[in-house]
Amino acid sequence: MSWITINSRSGVSDSFVSLPTIDQKRMLPKGSLPINVLDVNDLDRVLNESPELFFDGGKKETLLIEGYYPNKFGIWATHKVYRITYQVNGRKERIIAKIMDRECGAKELRLLSDLCKTSKVPTPFHFLYDEQLEEEKFSDVKGILFMSYVDNRFHFEEYLRKWCVTGQKNLELKNISESLFDIWSVGIKHNDLKGEHILFTGKEWFVIDFEKSKSFVGKEDVKDELVVLIGDSTVYLDRFMAYNKMNFEGMIKERYETFLDSFLPLFDFTFGYNKYIPTFETSIQNKALKTAYSTLKVR
Ligand SMILES: Nc1ncnc2c1ncn2[C@@H]1O[C@H](COP(=O)(O)OP(=O)(O)OP(=O)(O)O)[C@@H](O)[C@H]1O
Ligand SMILES: [Mg+2]
Repeated sequence: MSWITINSRSGVSDSFVSLPTIDQKRMLPKGSLPINVLDVNDLDRVLNESPELFFDGGKKETLLIEGYYPNKFGIWATHKVYRITYQVNGRKERIIAKIMDRECGAKELRLLSDLCKTSKVPTPFHFLYDEQLEEEKFSDVKGILFMSYVDNRFHFEEYLRKWCVTGQKNLELKNISESLFDIWSVGIKHNDLKGEHILFTGKEWFVIDFEKSKSFVGKEDVKDELVVLIGDSTVYLDRFMAYNKMNFEGMIKERYETFLDSFLPLFDFTFGYNKYIPTFETSIQNKALKTAYSTLKVR
């Protein structure tokens, strides 16, 4: 359960109230915001009064505000990302609200607006920012980026872990390479391509979070992106194995190798050394898994 309900029409949720205060604080947005994103009435107002958010053609009623709060092997991570469920014309819909500073929000809005025409990325709707707050010298002024919710079942790292550990039948990777090629081909390097930033809907792979993106220059960038994606997801598998006292042998080993053998050829280039490989080698504790990851250098 990565999303935890914070607020709804009937009030602050029990699941939020029962969290330790320190965790509650971590889930609450920091900085000066144009609206209180956790307030049902404020959200109703924005969802109904901002022309950029008026795409459902009916009165929206906020039902649920959830925070993204994944538990990674006993450690809770927090992000300033909220999922809003609202009702419109008798249907339930979802939208993402991500708290960002002015520069990052404007950048992500611009990039997603261009990319969503051709690539599998969320559709951005609006970056709500209050310049007045800045003029009035409020501290740490932030905005809220509203974008479409990608109804995902797994992140890439979870998918790889499931493939290796649970004996899941299919390994559907082709569509990831297509999604990535679409992005690179319009001159964008994601530049933070960790497993959490690639979401699988059960049919398609979507890429999210372009905050750190840069211009795509050449093939070395493809290498950087893949080394990071595979490295980050391998570290996740490593932590999972350690947490569950598993060894890298039998099915896990076979399937991890099958994953590398089937994923890399989709990108059609030889690997060789890359500056990010040692970073991940240092983080992977399991020696056999580290060796398997290190084969990237000679593929
Ligand atoms: N449009 C979206 N649809 C579905 N889920 C999303 C969407 N945007 C973000 N999320 C969820 O929120 C998580 C964090 O999102 P994102 O990486 O954009 O935020 P972040 O605060 O930049 O995180 P970090 O700084 O740790 O990378 C994602 O891994 C994903 O699970
Ligand atoms: Mg992120």
